[in-house]
Amino acid sequence: MKVLGLESSCDETGIALFDTDSGQMWQRLYSQIEKHREFGGVVPELASRDHVVKAALLIREILDEFGPVEEIDAIAYTRGPGLMGALMVGASLARGLGWSLQVPVLGVHHMEGHLLAPMLTDDIPEFPFVALLVSGGHTMLVEATALGSYRILGETLDDAVGEAFDKTAKLLGLPYPGGPELAALADQTADSRFTFPRPMTNRPGLDFSFSGLKTYALYTVQQNSPLDETTRAEIAFAFQRAVVETLRIKCDRALTETGISRLVVAGGVGANMCLRQVLSKLAKDRGGRVYYPPPEYCTDNGAMIAYAGAMRLLAGQRDEAVFDVLPRWSIEALPEVSG
Ligand code: KG4
Ligand code: ZN
Repeated sequence: MKVLGLESSCDETGIALFDTDSGQMWQRLYSQIEKHREFGGVVPELASRDHVVKAALLIREILDEFGPVEEIDAIAYTRGPGLMGALMVGASLARGLGWSLQVPVLGVHHMEGHLLAPMLTDDIPEFPFVALLVSGGHTMLVEATALGSYRILGETLDDAVGEAFDKTAKLLGLPYPGGPELAALADQTADSRFTFPRPMTNRPGLDFSFSGLKTYALYTVQQNSPLDETTRAEIAFAFQRAVVETLRIKCDRALTETGISRLVVAGGVGANMCLRQVLSKLAKDRGGRVYYPPPEYCTDNGAMIAYAGAMRLLAGQRDEAVFDVLPRWSIEALPEVSG
């Protein structure tokens, strides 16, 4: 089955074509980051308009490489969660193309896409596993017992990890989205005179809170301004260490509580090398394993949507030919895939 995947939930237009027989993936990714940078964050209306301009062009590019459009057997698009207007662009394109080709169209959960992205390697995690999903919009720990069977163990009560990275990076004068830039700045020092708090680690539970850490960064910046280069790097280092340590403690707890040994880390912040090192060590110390998507599939992309859609379509799942998107959508509401 050849499944076309469309991702347009935020500021990346991701298109991919996945052949379930050969495992081959064709993909194109266009990032709108440059467009939003001058505003210091994603502007929803700009995002929708840019998806309109780029999505069809990227589909054309893939077909030029792959072959005739009639060979597409099904279409998967991101139905939610995400920005309403941006989601509508992908949904309308998917539905329109599906109707004209007379092929099934399936709405995919964006976070399931992230959660299954590690399957796009040769080193596939088996169920059950605990997934740490860390992106610009979400931070959650999920127990995945089967394809489509997910239980949220904990999630953020306020800011997402990526959001905290981006806001702290902004305080340090780094351009949007500052996560990778803050990580690079932290790498410039081996230690820090600052110690940031590890929020919500001194009480039981698996929820997170990152807004206080961002405020702590604000006070640290204010108290040490004007910042010299060493101080900037030390603040970045202390912030990153606190985030990574907090995530490590919660992952450790989630693995203990579920009795599961496999940990999957996905979402944009999963590209963070410091986090990868620390979680790899945690899994090793516990006698388990940690799985990551290839770096290009950590941030938003069409391949993960094509893949997640393909798994459901192969199992016979179909959507009514309705046109809707779900900007707010719990991953626990998904139907389990049997067989
Ligand atoms: O998954 P993603 O592409 O988009 C959402 O669905 O939100 O994640 C983007 C987020 C941004 O906040 C970005 O700053 C962060 O992931 N990010 C990183 C790194 N690479 C991306 N944060 C820390 N370290 C990184 N290396
Ligand atoms: Zn995402």
